[in-house]
Amino acid sequence: MTTHGSPDYRDSGLEFPADFLLGSATASYQIEGAVAEDGRGPSIWDTFSHTPGLVVNGDTGDVADDHYHRLDEDLDMMKGLGLEAYRFSIAWPRIVPTGSGAINQAGIDFYSRLVDGLIARGIKPIATLYHWDLPQPLEDAGGWPNRDTAYRFAEYAAVIGQALGDRVETWTTLNEPWCSAYLGYGSGVHAPGRTNGADALAAVHHLNLAHGLALTELRKVVTNDPDFSVTLNLHVVRPGADDAGDAVRRIDALANRAFTGPMLRGEYPADLLADTAGITDWAFVLPGDLEAINQSIDVLGVNYYSTATVKPWDGVSPKQSADGHGTSVGSPWPGSEDVEFIAQPGPYTEMGWNIAPDGLEDLLVSLHEQFPAQPLMVTENGAAFPDVLDEGQVHDADRIDYLRRHFTAAHRAMGHGVDLRGYQVWSLMDNFEWAYGYTKRFGIVYVDYESLERTVKDSGHWYAELVRTHRIPA
Ligand code: NOJ
Repeated sequence: MTTHGSPDYRDSGLEFPADFLLGSATASYQIEGAVAEDGRGPSIWDTFSHTPGLVVNGDTGDVADDHYHRLDEDLDMMKGLGLEAYRFSIAWPRIVPTGSGAINQAGIDFYSRLVDGLIARGIKPIATLYHWDLPQPLEDAGGWPNRDTAYRFAEYAAVIGQALGDRVETWTTLNEPWCSAYLGYGSGVHAPGRTNGADALAAVHHLNLAHGLALTELRKVVTNDPDFSVTLNLHVVRPGADDAGDAVRRIDALANRAFTGPMLRGEYPADLLADTAGITDWAFVLPGDLEAINQSIDVLGVNYYSTATVKPWDGVSPKQSADGHGTSVGSPWPGSEDVEFIAQPGPYTEMGWNIAPDGLEDLLVSLHEQFPAQPLMVTENGAAFPDVLDEGQVHDADRIDYLRRHFTAAHRAMGHGVDLRGYQVWSLMDNFEWAYGYTKRFGIVYVDYESLERTVKDSGHWYAELVRTHRIPA
């Protein structure tokens, strides 16, 4: 049934252009396992997950999906799904195990085999340089609040760019620096688990700087004219009361413009600096930094899951979780602790996140309005649901429904003139969902964590048809 423009976004039959890149995404620490093999050094997520009480069930990435040992099987699985692209991340501690100095050839070899295996199967490699697994020695030296980490990142980018810069088609510097900065150093629910607002803001800047410095290094060494990008989890912030305008503005500044400002406009927003003046004077922004950060990118990666609604906190009522990632220890919003995130209308995924495809449409249209010449790509979208493996099948109709609505939303955004280049579903397979361990399944492929066997879910079959036909299946 084709119901173009239905208000609940449950369309089918909508067609995407032939060159619209359809694929799926993962990240190194979430799937690889083999954390102490072939010279890999420890990352902050090894340390964090091995600290009792920080990850649900004490889960760690030690084995994860054992992807490191099942590379060929997983590549064949991607081919079986017909993926046109695969978005993966490179583990910095496999390439530069101590974060600086010695390079580990075995780590480079692994990603080289991955990239070759993708190309051999006709799948475009989209490589992310940083999906949160910071080498532990760099955290010991101060982590992202320390400027030096940005320089070490640029060195690592040069090394891996040299090795794979003839074959990777899209380079993404960072994945969701919002999480690295505010969840890692503000609320503390992510590694390294620190809770200091000034550190979180310094981390924001040094992540931005790392992005810029890495792009400069990559451009020097690559030889195949790739696309350059960064992936941001920009927040769709709605007003939850008549007097919520300032709360919306402040969260938009911290969550969105703190990254798009320097990266795409070459400036930090004046209101962000003013809002946080009581926490930091931003003296860590040195002359020349903004020029280094502000570089043209070929595509801006957008990760989207749900929306947020805010209002001024009355100072009395218990606040809702302020980060959408579970109960906060500290605040992920330095200087905006008096903003309240209010409960969203359902339905919800198993993460408790509201299902709001209109948010994706609004986000893409808004980005297009703010940055009209900037091509975009959805680099993550997907949902966790309580899947059940039943006689070799997983009937995840709720995930199909979620994906259908969000693909419809993306299609509608394109109808409004948004230059959207592709869509990577999160995730190729169930994996380590950070502080939630293995309790949340996002895959379009089911992973049995006992046998490590993979089973394509109904959503995987549905998505394979979407990729094959470039139309949203019925
Ligand atoms: C965004 C992150 O990039 C990814 O690592 C995570 O698993 C998904 N969102 C779902 O929370």
